[in-house]
Amino acid sequence: MDALVITGGRRLTGKVRASGSKNAALPIMAASILADEPLVLKGVPNLADIRTMGRLLSQLGVKVERKKGGTMVLKSPSRSRRNRAPYKIMKTMRAGICVLGPLLARRGKAEVSLPGGCAIGDRPVDLHLKGLRWLGGRIEIEHGYIAGSCQRLRGTEMYLGGPFGSSVTGTANILMAATLAKGTTVIDCAACEPEVQDLARVLQKMGACIDGIGSPRLVIEGVDRLGGCEHRVIPDRIEAGTFLVAGAATRGDVTVEGARWNDLFALVHALNEMGAEVEHEDGTIRATARRRLRSIDVTTLPFPGFPTDLQAQMMAALARADGISVVTEKIYPDRFMHVAELARMGAEIRKHSNAAVVHGTERLSGAPVMASDLRASAALVIAGLMASGQTRVSRVYHLDRGYDRLEQKLRSLGARIRRVKE
Ligand code: EPZ
Repeated sequence: MDALVITGGRRLTGKVRASGSKNAALPIMAASILADEPLVLKGVPNLADIRTMGRLLSQLGVKVERKKGGTMVLKSPSRSRRNRAPYKIMKTMRAGICVLGPLLARRGKAEVSLPGGCAIGDRPVDLHLKGLRWLGGRIEIEHGYIAGSCQRLRGTEMYLGGPFGSSVTGTANILMAATLAKGTTVIDCAACEPEVQDLARVLQKMGACIDGIGSPRLVIEGVDRLGGCEHRVIPDRIEAGTFLVAGAATRGDVTVEGARWNDLFALVHALNEMGAEVEHEDGTIRATARRRLRSIDVTTLPFPGFPTDLQAQMMAALARADGISVVTEKIYPDRFMHVAELARMGAEIRKHSNAAVVHGTERLSGAPVMASDLRASAALVIAGLMASGQTRVSRVYHLDRGYDRLEQKLRSLGARIRRVKE
């Protein structure tokens, strides 16, 4: 197992390029099941989760070819009996659930393991199952597997909102299934995340009829078949946001190339409120902070609200801000595994149900800390960059699931960071 060793106290300065989006690429890869012509994807990031999705699709008979420079070609057979998504893969990556809708819609049969537990909290898939049942799918839970079957799905109108609002992969699953359903489907309270929009655009290129992309009301006119297409995956707004927060938190000057302003507006607004300067030009976003950041209150919400996947990184930055901040988690009420680890570095944070009160301190000090999940590990790296002395972040396999060459990119911004074997 690897760890990252960071010597903190340096301002991050310079330019770094955002990779393709993990959370856009994963459901788009699953969409390859819907067509029997090649899906050519460009800008696919080199991540553990992408490889896992590739393995899962191969199990389902999809030919997955990785080419140089982030290109991937996916070709699904016109017929296949390989409809089982095994627990051993699904337990490592929840996004595997995105094969359920396409399998049911295209092959009329699916056997997908329930994902199981997650460090960031309770993550049921009831909305996915309800949505597929409303489309006429027979859905049973047997021996830890979702067993689904249907002749042909039928379009209908549904409200897909849950206790925390819209569901990102829930919307993706129903959207993909509805493209091949008979008749019209309306999804109300659909997720509007840029990743869902990117998936919808790929489906349109494949021949699907979709209206309302980017809005909470998607209207899908089912078609008899979908073809292949070529598509460049959108840049990863969470990776880009992580670099912008790291730049501001180290009182640095960081420019992220390939980042999209509209995808990150809630973050830009928050950084401005903290006293950082954030500007954009020609597809780049630049964050500069010349002095200690100010405290603010942050509440995570579905897009276009502040993303829950940047909550931990923002909390690390607020740990050294001037004043008291309140961070409220409205998507995953228990997503605070990073709090105890930040406290090991001298952060003063008190948790109350789904909120944390952060008393900003002048300085953090380096310490050995443990990563618990993908975004928490990014927060510990940022804290290590801010802290005096050395920080050792262990279990960085969490990080490798969602960040492409993070330490190389941070080193190019002047960070003192290296990977070691544990
Ligand atoms: C996606 O997960 C992302 N993953 C997550 O990013 C992200 O945190 C999340 O959306 C929210 O933005 C991918 O896109 C692969 P949800 P997803 O369904 O789709 C509840 C990362 O770090 N809910 O939008 O699984 C759920 O428990 C990952 O890259 C139900 O109650 O999230 C949560 O509280 C972590 N029933 C809320 O809705 C359901 O059937 C939002 O979950 C589905 C969800």
